[in-house]
Amino acid sequence: MHLDRLLIVTSLAGPALGFNATELIQRYFGNDAPWYADRIPVFESSASEIQDVYYYRWSVFRAHQRDLGADGYISTEFLQDVGWQTQPSALLIDAANMHLREGRWCRDRRFKDDYGNFLFGAHKNPYQFSESMADGVWQGYLVDGVSGSITGHLESMQDVYTGWNTTAMSTGGYDVDKSLYWIQPLTDATEYTIASIDASGGSDGFTGGNAFRPSINSYQYANALAISNIASLTGDKALAQEYKDKAATIKADVQTSLWNSTFKHFIDRYKVDNTNVKYWDFIRGRELVGYVPWTHDLPDDTDAFAQAWTHLTDSEKFGGPHGLRTNEPSYEYYMRQYRYEGSQRECQWNGPAWPYQTTQLLAGLANLLDHYPKAAAANVISKTDYTKLLKQYAQLHYNPNRGGILDIEEDYDADTGLPIVGLARSPHYFHSGFIDLVLSGLVGVRPQAGDTLEINPAADASSISYFRAARIMYHGHEIAVQWDATGKQYGQKGLIIEVDGKKAASSKNLSRLSVKINRQDPPAVARPIAVSIQQGEDTEYPRGQVSVTGDTNTAAIHAAIDGRVWFFPESDIANGWDTPAGNGSEVWYQIDFGSSTKTKNAEIAFFANATQTFDVPSDYRIQTSQSGKWVDVSNGKLDKALANGITKASWDSVSSESIRLVFTPKKGSKARLVELKVFGA
Ligand SMILES: *[C@@H]1O[C@H](CO)[C@@H](O)[C@H](O)[C@H]1NC(C)=O
Ligand SMILES: *[C@@H]1O[C@H](CO)[C@@H](O)[C@H](O)[C@H]1NC(C)=O
Ligand SMILES: *[C@@H]1O[C@H](CO)[C@@H](O)[C@H](O)[C@H]1NC(C)=O
Ligand SMILES: *[C@@H]1O[C@H](CO)[C@@H](O)[C@H](O)[C@H]1NC(C)=O
Ligand SMILES: *[C@@H]1O[C@H](CO)[C@@H](O)[C@H](O)[C@H]1NC(C)=O
Ligand SMILES: *[C@@H]1O[C@H](CO)[C@@H](O)[C@H](O)[C@H]1NC(C)=O
Repeated sequence: MHLDRLLIVTSLAGPALGFNATELIQRYFGNDAPWYADRIPVFESSASEIQDVYYYRWSVFRAHQRDLGADGYISTEFLQDVGWQTQPSALLIDAANMHLREGRWCRDRRFKDDYGNFLFGAHKNPYQFSESMADGVWQGYLVDGVSGSITGHLESMQDVYTGWNTTAMSTGGYDVDKSLYWIQPLTDATEYTIASIDASGGSDGFTGGNAFRPSINSYQYANALAISNIASLTGDKALAQEYKDKAATIKADVQTSLWNSTFKHFIDRYKVDNTNVKYWDFIRGRELVGYVPWTHDLPDDTDAFAQAWTHLTDSEKFGGPHGLRTNEPSYEYYMRQYRYEGSQRECQWNGPAWPYQTTQLLAGLANLLDHYPKAAAANVISKTDYTKLLKQYAQLHYNPNRGGILDIEEDYDADTGLPIVGLARSPHYFHSGFIDLVLSGLVGVRPQAGDTLEINPAADASSISYFRAARIMYHGHEIAVQWDATGKQYGQKGLIIEVDGKKAASSKNLSRLSVKINRQDPPAVARPIAVSIQQGEDTEYPRGQVSVTGDTNTAAIHAAIDGRVWFFPESDIANGWDTPAGNGSEVWYQIDFGSSTKTKNAEIAFFANATQTFDVPSDYRIQTSQSGKWVDVSNGKLDKALANGITKASWDSVSSESIRLVFTPKKGSKARLVELKVFGA
């Protein structure tokens, strides 16, 4: 039996010995596994921390998918609402590029496509922070190959792009004399940089410090190229050329003006001119943001620019023992704490390790290792560093302040690995990427516009003895990439690419492999629209009501229909409406639609945790209001209530102004309704 299977494996190259996708999804997601089963690529590796964090990051992705009903899904940044988000959607665009780069690996294209529609649609808010949204959308296309979902954004992308080029903005814009973009560090989502601290004379740095930065200019470079590439897809050659030229201009100006040959690094120059700092002077130190040009493939492959990479792993510079510092210990105000909430330290970028910039850095390093041959040959940085830094980044996800659980937060002390901010808003913060760094970096699926599948792992063969990434949907095909240094893990030695279950190419070592692949339509996107979503707490309809208020507040009632679903057990990030402990009587949660609304099925999310005395209810019913009476729906197919997963219910289509979920909490246990999502079609 065993031998038979091995023979089959050898001839068909799959399924790989010992690799069980169903088991992996079940192990990591329990009752919520069905949400992930058809949606995520499955990954395993000898680097167990990278594997564990890979699945954790999918749970972060899932938790931050906010269903806005007819407005589709967006990715949120914080699990809980914050004062500076766009209301009522909770949109924050600073990490949108990372959300989209994570989302491009989701086999269900709805999430990234809906998000692109929102970012460039009627509710867009493009100048909230510096952004590389057009690039993020383009990066998604490189994986799925579906032009129809992005070409419609072309006009809006140009509007957003040229909007940065206005002098009307006080926190960011374009300087005609220098032909470069400038930004306030806070608006660049990086408060307390060298520019903003030094512009204040060292006294503060939350606001101010406007500077020509490597970030905003790289973002606009990437956005210009994205617009140019999308214009090419539509056949608009003139527009494609116009934006290609814009990108070329930015590239030239960044290389001549922001490269500081003394520091051998891309650094800011001041836009602000005051008693502390002078217009066009360089800042006085290196910052990690100086690598962002490589995130977007801006720099030429030269020996001079390659020198920037000598600072990265230097322990006196960026290379902290537990993370990459955002600037160097030699800076006068390195790690000086300026801002607090109460006694808790607040976000700053004068030294702490930020997952946000670590993500940019690793994406840039993967680019360098992939297609900067001169820089790679300079031997200043290698796959060994990529693998080591990815492992180090994975380690930051384990939070000792919260019992060692997987919990990514804002920023970290690079010397200790401990989170710095740790506020109520901090847990499971989606302000960085990881999945993309595993799949396009470590595993090395290098997404292409053309009809090729190119694999070039950034994994270091001496420290990664095996990995397998399967169920990757690329240009409509099922892709798997497998590495086995000894052949002991999967029965075959070396690197193997599989396309649609068949071996397509292989190599003895972790070298580049490239195969021709025709483009085909990936599975269609299902787009059911929930009719139950209340975007803002004070939105009139739909509106939630409960049978027993007890100590519940309106926020908790809102939470059960706010389009957000997660089952993290930590009680300080509880999500939903909690009933009192059960005594045998029924309770209900009611949604008022405000007008007659058709319904026919629901997705119900119940939380359970024995130590917190939460359990699923013993039974439940669905009722609608009919001429002033509550009536059970007919032909209800009600799945058994599932803990920490989605319970499905369906019934004969019916119209009503209100609907109720009536249920009985188990004796002595509370029930928590995380979400009651109702659909009409
Ligand atoms: C894979 O795992 C699932 C779930 O644990 C199990 O039911 C199935 O039999 C396994 N398949 C193989 C081929 O071992
Ligand atoms: C920005 O606007 C200025 C002034 O109109 C113009 O000279 C420049 O070419 C524009 N730059 C870009 C990148 O559009
Ligand atoms: C680099 O920046 C430093 C600090 O502002 C400055 O002293 C130096 O002159 C700059 N180097 C060059 C070549 O401009
Ligand atoms: C990897 O293998 C390829 C052939 O499969 C060979 O050309 C190349 O030199 C090898 N590289 C290393 C670093 O061993
Ligand atoms: C229940 O919640 C606690 C935290 O309150 C957590 O430590 C524990 O792991 C949870 N149990 C389960 C089964 O999720
Ligand atoms: C039983 O529970 C219901 C719903 O929580 C509550 O309204 C009622 O007061 C409880 N009855 C007793 C006797 O505690």
